[in-house]
Amino acid sequence: MLWFKCNEFIPGAAIGVGFIGVALSFCLFLYEVTPVPDLHVICRMSQASEENLEVFRAERNEAFVLGYTGEVGRELIRDMALLKAFSKVYLIGRRYINLPDHLGPEFEQVIVDYDDLDSYADVFRNVKYGFCCLGTTRAKAGKRGFVKVDHDYVLKSAELAKAGGCKHYSVLSSQGADKNSSLLYPRTKGQMEEALKVIHFEQLSLFRPGLILCDRRESRPSETFFRTILKPMAYFFPTAVTTPVQVIARAMINDAIHPIRHEPVLLYENRAIHFLSGISKQCS
Ligand SMILES: NC(=O)c1ccc[n+]([C@@H]2O[C@H](COP(=O)([O-])OP(=O)(O)OC[C@H]3O[C@@H](n4cnc5c(N)ncnc54)[C@H](OP(=O)(O)O)[C@@H]3O)[C@@H](O)[C@H]2O)c1
Repeated sequence: MLWFKCNEFIPGAAIGVGFIGVALSFCLFLYEVTPVPDLHVICRMSQASEENLEVFRAERNEAFVLGYTGEVGRELIRDMALLKAFSKVYLIGRRYINLPDHLGPEFEQVIVDYDDLDSYADVFRNVKYGFCCLGTTRAKAGKRGFVKVDHDYVLKSAELAKAGGCKHYSVLSSQGADKNSSLLYPRTKGQMEEALKVIHFEQLSLFRPGLILCDRRESRPSETFFRTILKPMAYFFPTAVTTPVQVIARAMINDAIHPIRHEPVLLYENRAIHFLSGISKQCS
């Protein structure tokens, strides 16, 4: 009897899974080929940024980076060093690390207590560009700890930066960020975005990447699982749900060095991040 039920169930389940797989692939295909209204604008932005690099360098701009010890943060400062985009970069963190040799003397670590950031207001003084790659997980920090890092610390840093004269604040949010979501992660990201908007930077750039593709140093089994099962998707539909860490870093830099500002708040969804990085094939 049991054998009979299994015999019916297994092919049925296989057909069901296959059907869902085909339907999902079709949706992603449509997503991937659907023209983005601003695609050409964003592709042009990445070209204009590359062309503006020399001029930007000559301006000798200063920047600070929060979360420089994380996956995106490390790649961001590696790319900053490669492009020699900034004359000074303050690396703001909670602990010292051995900085890699490829970072020049313009990179300086500043250690702060994130629970008492007001005491470090000076760190943010007269630094025109701010990059925030802070973040943790609920598994690591608990619900309250997650909100504290991904919302409260980001917001407090932004307020101090604005008070110190920061003109352009760039921050990592996430695909699916939604202040009204019933889920903690997208809700926290969405609320963080909304809170930043009312600070009124001359330029606020919000980046919403998909699953970050990187060789993560820390063990995160769920991320590793998703990264593995999304590998084919990342290959066939590269801009849909995944984002290589190098793409995010270059997009953040290209956005900062772009010569023209269109709107005070720019929101880059995952595809736009790919296009802005200049790495996406769809721009060529
Ligand atoms: N993982 C993904 O696939 C994904 C997808 C979309 C968006 N994002 C978002 O992208 C951002 C960066 O991601 P990531 O993978 O680069 O993060 P990460 O590797 O976990 O790095 C996080 C950074 O935040 C710092 N940080 C964490 N907890 C802290 C605390 N309590 N106090 C002070 N600093 C703290 C870390 O410093 P320490 O080194 O000192 O811990 C590190 O520099 C996050 O906001 C994340 O939500 C991630």
